[in-house]
Amino acid sequence: CVTMGPSRLSPLLCVSALLLPLVSPMTRPKLLLVSFDGFRWDYINRVPATNFHALMKEGVQVEQVENIYITKTFPNHYSLVTGLYAETHGIVANEMYDPALNLSFSMETDSVYDPRWWDDAVPLWVSVQKAGGRSGAAMWPGSDVKIHGTYPNRYLPYNASVPFETRVQRVIEWFSAPKEEAVDFAVLYWEEPDESGHLLGPESPLMDGIIADVDKKLGFLRTELRKAGLYENLNLIVTSDHGMTQMSNEKMVELDEYVSRDLYTWVDKSPVVGIIPNEGKFEEVYSKLLDANPYMAVYKKEDIPVRYHYQHHLRIMPILLEAQEGYSIVQNRTAPFMLGNHGYNNSLRSMHPIFVARGPAFRQDFVQPSMQSVDLYPLMCHILSLRPLPHNGSLFRVKDLLSEAPPTPAPSAPPKPPSYSYAPVIGSMISIVMVVGFLIFYIKEVTIKQLPALPRGSKEMSQPLLQEDLYLHFLETHRGCVSVRHI
Ligand SMILES: *[C@@H]1O[C@H](CO)[C@@H](O)[C@H](O)[C@H]1NC(C)=O
Ligand SMILES: *[C@@H]1O[C@H](CO)[C@@H](O)[C@H](O)[C@H]1NC(C)=O
Ligand SMILES: *[C@@H]1O[C@H](CO)[C@@H](O)[C@H](O)[C@H]1NC(C)=O
Ligand SMILES: *[C@@H]1O[C@H](CO)[C@@H](O)[C@H](O)[C@H]1NC(C)=O
Ligand SMILES: *[C@@H]1O[C@H](CO)[C@@H](O)[C@H](O)[C@H]1NC(C)=O
Ligand SMILES: [Zn+2]
Repeated sequence: CVTMGPSRLSPLLCVSALLLPLVSPMTRPKLLLVSFDGFRWDYINRVPATNFHALMKEGVQVEQVENIYITKTFPNHYSLVTGLYAETHGIVANEMYDPALNLSFSMETDSVYDPRWWDDAVPLWVSVQKAGGRSGAAMWPGSDVKIHGTYPNRYLPYNASVPFETRVQRVIEWFSAPKEEAVDFAVLYWEEPDESGHLLGPESPLMDGIIADVDKKLGFLRTELRKAGLYENLNLIVTSDHGMTQMSNEKMVELDEYVSRDLYTWVDKSPVVGIIPNEGKFEEVYSKLLDANPYMAVYKKEDIPVRYHYQHHLRIMPILLEAQEGYSIVQNRTAPFMLGNHGYNNSLRSMHPIFVARGPAFRQDFVQPSMQSVDLYPLMCHILSLRPLPHNGSLFRVKDLLSEAPPTPAPSAPPKPPSYSYAPVIGSMISIVMVVGFLIFYIKEVTIKQLPALPRGSKEMSQPLLQEDLYLHFLETHRGCVSVRHI
């Protein structure tokens, strides 16, 4: 301060200089959400899984997380970051048809990148940015799509071949970037143990090695966070989208036995199938399928059980078929067969994901019996001091996980903590007004020539990162070129 101006101005200058760091959002809580696809809640008890158990000891565990129907990858990943059921967020399946758009959505095509599929909801990374924060995303479903006109500040375009370790390194770079560039919130996705669960079946002894490897990967993440000095202050949530159940080629429902293929189009596949009967064929198709097979439930759209919260969307088809746990719905037996699958009734324990979390926001060595996966969204908003958008979860149901009770908990309506957008912005504006006021005063007092140059923003420092991201984007062959996934 002393060196910057004439002595009689020093006190004012010092006040302005001190105010800036005090009110700038430098101590925002940080949050990393990790999903290991298809990590069933009880996998941690099959092998030592020392890293999962260490997190539970350092933080919290929820034993039964009821995820959303249908228990598939895209619908559940979108619920985790929106707190909405599929019928509201609009990603109702991995494969969809939208009658208004007359378009199909498939993980195997570029349709994934069309924002119209995603824009019914606002994912947390978009809200963080709209509130003045920054976010990063490593391969999370939907995070490389321009939703509501916005990509995450930092993201990796989807490429299943990018190793977990690379994804972790990028996330750590984003968190440890210079203050103005560092992300507040990031999401990180890994394809295992889902991929192997489908191939081997969850009951296969070979799955033990796959689970142990995921635990090792979690260990890598912990080590790297420690090395970067992030471990203690970061809130880390490790969860998944769904579980997995064992299949058998004895347990097949063959639609061709009951109704001609020429009478309908099927949209999402086993174990939950959307059926569009041909024009004028609704009653015929419905009556032929109803009660056709004891291992298949058949619902008219308007009769889908209320507890599924899976009815009020254009992309939910006129007839819904649901296989009983362990059964597959096929047209005939030549269809490719998998030893493990998911998608079934979300009340089934086999469909439930893992949930562990640690960090300053969480209690230590605490186990909660249950929660809904839609509760994660208000929990994350609370941690980030962000006002949640309307959602289907409840902060009240998960408040016991927190090290500090949230203010004024109300059972039905989750409290709305003040958005962190305003305090820092107003604070910064006050500082700016003071600095500008001071400068005007200063300019009047001394000659313009002697004005100190204002420090420039550190935008340049983000360029190497940004360019790498863009480079990856150009290299990307979309999901269609990657081998067929059954997530
Ligand atoms: C829907 O799109 C297909 C081409 O993908 C076209 O053949 C069909 O006529 C369209 N249907 C309507 C109702 O516009
Ligand atoms: C089974 O379905 C396949 C196509 O999915 C078809 O090529 C084949 O002819 C069918 N087999 C029988 C016995 O109907
Ligand atoms: C789903 O599973 C639960 C628990 O097994 C069961 O009570 C329920 O009837 C099943 N089906 C539906 C449609 O909820
Ligand atoms: C879920 O939340 C959305 C947004 O508030 C609301 O429109 C919808 O009705 C809710 N669904 C249920 C089943 O309460
Ligand atoms: C996907 O990632 C792998 C491994 O980093 C890389 O070799 C490959 O070129 C990438 N593919 C695309 C299309 O970017
Ligand atoms: Zn999945």
